[in-house]
Order: sequence, then structure tokens, then C-alpha cells
Amino acid sequence: MNLRNLPGQPHLAYRGNELYLEDIRLNDLAKEHGTPLFVYSKAAMLSTLVAYQRGFAGRKVQICYAMKANPSLGVIQVFAQAGCGFDVVSGGDIERVLAAGGLAEKIIFSGVGKTSSEMRLALDLGIGCFNVESEAELEVLSEVALAMDLRAPVSLRVNPNVDPKTHPYISTGLKDSKFGIAHERVLPAYQRAAKLAGVRIVGIDCHIGSQITQVEPYLDAMDRMLDLVEAIEATGIAMGHIDFGGGLGINYQGDTPPSADELWQKLLARLDARGFGERQLMIEPGRSLVGNAGVCLSEVLYLKPGEQKNFCIIDAAMNDLPRPAMYQAFHQIIPLNPRSDAPATWEVVGPICESGDWIGHARKLALQPGDLLAVLSAGAYCMSMASNYNSRGRAAEILVDGNRAHLIRQRESISDQMRGETLINPQTTAASI
Ligand code: LLP
Repeated sequence: MNLRNLPGQPHLAYRGNELYLEDIRLNDLAKEHGTPLFVYSKAAMLSTLVAYQRGFAGRKVQICYAMKANPSLGVIQVFAQAGCGFDVVSGGDIERVLAAGGLAEKIIFSGVGKTSSEMRLALDLGIGCFNVESEAELEVLSEVALAMDLRAPVSLRVNPNVDPKTHPYISTGLKDSKFGIAHERVLPAYQRAAKLAGVRIVGIDCHIGSQITQVEPYLDAMDRMLDLVEAIEATGIAMGHIDFGGGLGINYQGDTPPSADELWQKLLARLDARGFGERQLMIEPGRSLVGNAGVCLSEVLYLKPGEQKNFCIIDAAMNDLPRPAMYQAFHQIIPLNPRSDAPATWEVVGPICESGDWIGHARKLALQPGDLLAVLSAGAYCMSMASNYNSRGRAAEILVDGNRAHLIRQRESISDQMRGETLINPQTTAASI
């Protein structure tokens, strides 16, 4: 491991024997706030955003942060202040955007199962666009909007049947996936939308998956979508914006995604060649904006050397960092203060009562109980998927900005966890329950 050169994490570096994020010594944060602790770099988030903005220079584009990657208010606030819109997938997401200072008109609402009450909330607030994922949803949305005397702005999500070459759980644009409207049904669905009194067509969109590290699937999906735009516009329906869905994959370990500039140079060249370069464009990146901006700090609780495997038990677990258990994902693990002793090979695991509760397999580390570790690339899809399994409170979160560290989420207490739960009153009769 080259400790000076952490892949994809320019804001994380050792100074002497101490790991820093921007100008903050991570050891100090762990001592002050305890572990597990998520720490994010604001500069790292903004630098990835700037890379997208550079890639789109001179074009009409709206970048909508896919907040499912990390919906903490302090993180949303960073992107709202930078002018981003937001890709949301629930009424709760919408409330978070507004609470963090984001604008309703820059919200696009994705997801296969929007409820009528979520639709009403979104319509009432005047969001920018519903990314409609089925013909059935289109009908319901039109009725809900009509009952409010409104027309819902819609874009239909195309399922282009393109293989994004990523983990099957995060592939979303193949024929057998639950997402979007099948390519061959999209034209009739737009023709139906054009007749519905409760909707107004504002665009088209597509999302083929996440952690994509090659350009070709994006180009294939773009071609498939542009074929549809041509066919739909030939029937007299104007399309408005074109939304290309999620962003790039990131470097977890030896992954080599294209840079944002490289990806967009190729995509924009294709758009220009097909005469769509002047269109209003949208993208919905999540992981690439926050993934490598964050680390999760954790303390080594026990070392348990064994005949077949050595276990290093840390205080972070699959409830904090679910990606290894869910997708066999790799997150680099490094010490906050490297030791000079010879490393051993460890299974880095959490305290949860499941063999699936692992954070890293076969990691070469020199460790002692009480050591602090940083689990890298933990800014995206970690805290957002955290749970209370084993009655573990969710971790605290810190946003680092230069030499300042802001607590953006307090550690969840057991009373936070039990709020809303009630014991059954022994006086209550069965009939009144
Ligand atoms: N737009 C839509 C409609 C999406 O479904 C997603 C991600 C995005 C945008 C953002 O994609 P990104 O830029 O982050 O690749 N929990 C999984 C990832 C699930 C992604 C779901 N959709 C993981 O930890 O790998």
C-alpha cells in the first residue's frame, strides 16, 4: 500500500504518521466524537462537481445530485449552495431537499413506486419533473394532478435494454429489470401522455445502472434514447430536456472509470453528430459526487487470531457499511497511524451476529486493539443505507471544510431508536387493541 497515494482521494493524505482529511487530523475527530464516525470532505465533493461542470462547459445542463447516495442535510446543503438540482425517490427525499435549502423547481422525482400522496406533495411544491417509470403510473399521476387542477411535468424513463456491465443488483436498464418503460412501449406511452389532461411532457430520461466504469454502455443507451427522441418528435410531440441518468463509477480498488471530461467529450460529440447538442441536458450523478469524499473511522476492538483465519473485530459493522455484505464490495481499509511492525492478514469484521458482517477480507495490516482505522470510499451508499440492526445507533457525521469540522449529524442514541415504540398496556382488552 502506498500510503502517500490514496487512489481517487486527493483530499486524504498522511502528514508524517497521521491521516488527515483536508486540514483536519482524523485522530482528533475520532477522539472527540467517538467511532464509528463518517467524515466527508467538502472540497472533494465540490471538485468532482466541478469536473462535471467543466465537461459540460458551454452547454445547457442541469446537474441533479442523486441524493440517495447520501441524503444528509449537510451534504445536500453543499450541493444546493453550488446550484445543483436533486434527483429524489420519495416524499421524504423532497422534504430533505427543502429543509437543506434546495429549490423545488430543480427537483426531479424518480422511482417505480410513487404513491398518490407523494405525487400530491411534489405537485403542491411545484417540482421540476416526474420521471415516470410505467404507463400505470402515468395514468395515476394525471388523475392526481387533475384533481388539484394542475398538469404534472413529466419525462418518461426509458428502459433501453443496455448492459451497464456492473453488479447485477445495481443494473437498472436491462429488459428484465423493474425500472423504466420498455423501449418498444415508449412511443405509445408518449402518445398516451400527450392526450392526458393532467400531464405536460417536458423531457425523456434513462438510467442504466450504477458504478459504471466504461463509456460504451452510456453511448449505447444514448443512441437508443436519441432514436426514440427522433421517433417521438416525428409524431409532433416536443421533447424538451434529455436526461442521461446517473453518473460515473468511482475508484474503490483498481477501478478505472473515465474522467467526467472524457465521458462527456464522447457523449457530447455523439449528441452533436446527431443534431441534439443544443438541447437542455440533465444528469443525475450520486456516487461520483460523494463516494470518494468520505471515510468511516472505526476502532479495533479485539484481535482474534485463529488456525484458519485471523479476525480483527472493529466497532463499525454491516449496519454502518452495508456494501460489502450486499454487493461483495471492496472498500480500502487503512490505519489512522500506521505501525512499523510486520503486517498480518486479517478478516476485518463487525460485531453483528451474522457471518455476512464483514468489511474487508484478507487485509494486510499491522494492528493492535485500540488502533483506529479508516474505511475509504464511504461517502456514497453507506450512511444512506445504514440501519439499526442489532439495536446499533447510526453513526455521527462530520463535514470537513479546510481546517473546520462541522458535526452534521449526531450519533443516534438508544432513545432516538426507541422513539415511537410503545409497550402494550396490560389493562388493554383484546377487543380494544
Ligand atoms: N438516477 C437514478 C434513477 C438512480 O436509480 C440512481 C442510482 C442514480 C441516478 C445515481 O447513480 P450513481 O451516479 O450513484 O451511479 N446502493 C448501491 C447503488 C444503488 C444505485 C441506485 N440508483 C451501491 O451501494 O452500490
